Amino acid sequence: MNTGFSDELIRRLRAAQRVVVLTGAGISAESGVPTFRAPDGLWSKFKPEELANMEAFLRNPALVWQWYQHRRDILETVKPNPGHETLAEMERHYPDFIIYTQNVDGLHQRAGSRRVAELHGNISRCRCTTCLQIIQEIDRGQDGIPMCPCGGMARPDVVWFGEMLPEGMMEQGYRDVAAADVFMVIGTSGVVYPAASLATLASRSEAYCIEINTEPSALSDAMDAVLIGPSGEVLPALWREVAPQLHF
Ligand code: OAD
Repeated sequence: MNTGFSDELIRRLRAAQRVVVLTGAGISAESGVPTFRAPDGLWSKFKPEELANMEAFLRNPALVWQWYQHRRDILETVKPNPGHETLAEMERHYPDFIIYTQNVDGLHQRAGSRRVAELHGNISRCRCTTCLQIIQEIDRGQDGIPMCPCGGMARPDVVWFGEMLPEGMMEQGYRDVAAADVFMVIGTSGVVYPAASLATLASRSEAYCIEINTEPSALSDAMDAVLIGPSGEVLPALWREVAPQLHF
């Protein structure tokens, strides 16, 4: 783990008023949620084109639901880790603090974070493919597929390949990044767009850009500080150095 935090890094975090964070699967890894692109990650066992798109769902909704139900079952057994908890703590200190997450696991909110923009949706919610409403899961039809009262099949309320992100969320993200003093990107390979464009925009803005990852990512070269190590250890260690000096 990188414990030698530079003076500039600490100074920028102490002086910041507006902080924007982009998180990916890596922040939940220490909770026991599998990431996507690790050698043993989700995409090594499953093909995105067979599971995470509308055509796949219409072809075999039961298979797609089995995969999402498997991931939901994992979430029942896990809890937020010190990385999530530190971000929730940071939100309480900064006047303006927001997390943009690619994760659908809800662990930031469970850790106490309040301003969380879920770029890729939330796996615990269902949406009807016919009337498009978010629905409560009451009826499970044949093959374990939740059905909407309107008679339509429900799908997980997550963003699939080829789909748009929730309306207006990226635009708000670009505005937040443009106004940020500090931008942090944590636990993402940085290869999925448009989410990763928040980081590329940040690197061209005034914001001081910090990355936390167990290994260099596609975004590392554009960052001002790259902290190599598990976010559940690096974030609390960093915050312990920054927090005593904060005066709001
Ligand atoms: P990836 O699996 O692509 O990347 C996870 C990143 O987390 C890697 O860069 C790891 O090095 C890093 N990592 C692993 N353990 C870590 C730890 N303990 N602390 C810090 N970093 C750690 O996951 P994402 O970048 O989130 O999209 O993937 C982006 C999107 O691709 C997902 O939201 C999903 C997927 O397809 C959709 O489903 C739309």
